[in-house]
Amino acid sequence: MKIVLGVTGGVAVYKMLGVVRQLQSDGHEIVVIMTPAAAKFVNPILFKTLSHNTVLTEDFDISRPIAHVELADWADVYAVAPATANTIAKIAHGIADNLLTTTALARTGRRIVFPSMNVHMYENPATQENLCILSEKLGWEVVEPDSGSLACGYSGKGRLVSEERIAAVISRDPDAPLKGKKYIVTAGGTIEKIDPVRYISNFSSGKMGIETAKALYKKGADVLLVYGNITASVPSYIESVKIESAAELLDTLRRRLPLFDGVFMAAAVADYAPSKQSQSKIKRHDDKITLELTANPDVLKTAASENKGKLFVGFALETDDAEANAAKKLSAKGIDYIVLNRLGPEHNPLGADENSVRLIGKNGAAEESGLISKKEAAEWLVRRILIENPARGAV
Ligand SMILES: Cc1cc2nc3c(=O)[nH]c(=O)nc-3n(C[C@H](O)[C@H](O)[C@H](O)COP(=O)(O)O)c2cc1C
Repeated sequence: MKIVLGVTGGVAVYKMLGVVRQLQSDGHEIVVIMTPAAAKFVNPILFKTLSHNTVLTEDFDISRPIAHVELADWADVYAVAPATANTIAKIAHGIADNLLTTTALARTGRRIVFPSMNVHMYENPATQENLCILSEKLGWEVVEPDSGSLACGYSGKGRLVSEERIAAVISRDPDAPLKGKKYIVTAGGTIEKIDPVRYISNFSSGKMGIETAKALYKKGADVLLVYGNITASVPSYIESVKIESAAELLDTLRRRLPLFDGVFMAAAVADYAPSKQSQSKIKRHDDKITLELTANPDVLKTAASENKGKLFVGFALETDDAEANAAKKLSAKGIDYIVLNRLGPEHNPLGADENSVRLIGKNGAAEESGLISKKEAAEWLVRRILIENPARGAV
């Protein structure tokens, strides 16, 4: 993706070095424009080094006399981050007195602004009105700042959103084929408590589910990540809810699913839970103890039967008769697709960064992803299920 990144003279400007680094390593082409104030905070050479590309600070550069029009037309997205109160005010009122604001005025495609300032500056009616003009009148996406402690010593709203979130918002697919769609993704293993300090769980890391949530977000969908026991980190830009047990997972799906278009059930749900949960820590006294287990509710089957018409994608991990078992699971649960993970001597998908999945539709058609990163596997699944092949149940 071609990105023009406008950087202004706010104290959070240092965070943009991380954002540029991430975008560049994800394969995007970035041109940075800095206001003269931004160039007082950070030397442009740093942005140049990290972006591997041009950094512009001057609007009267003899070698690029119409850079503002050129860049405004070239970019797939124009983002201003951090955006000072000053630059927001200028853009809102059509003032074009440096390369960043002139490019803003010349730009007609996707534009995003990430305000960042002291809480009083942010809450000032002048700034609020200017932000309103940007979003309501001029068609900018405004990403509201976070609340918390600010560099100026105050606490409140005005802090630049996380680097991870800035990069994710900017690199969202400009065609956003899933815009307006809402999906729940479940990830990680459930925890079934034995007593207050011990539990039964599994080796699921949550990586595949988290990558699926990111892939859906990237294509424009609204995503709710429901996660259990995980080792991977939860992206700050995706709404998430933490659960423990299979029963809690089912309860969360029952409450939230009516407002969503479907669910990608990548969580590793325990089939059994201790029949009784001891309220106090079980003491060591005998050589042997017996733990009785009772079957958990079948979360996927129950949720699918209670939410007919929504998309249900199940994930199966099989060690023996993988394909036959996955096909059985697909029809037994009454779902649209099953994603088969195979655990064998050559590959263990649990916790790995790579995966090789088989996508099976309810008409029996199937295709293989080959061994790729979980990020690529998740993007492949989203593309095959929702974008290239929207007919439910076919692959
Ligand atoms: C140390 C320091 C930190 C500043 N931080 C911010 C800030 O976070 N947000 C903001 O809106 N202005 C901030 N300002 C004020 C801007 O730098 C000032 O309004 C400047 O004119 C902005 O120019 P620009 O919008 O062209 O980059 C800060 C000023 C100083 C001296």
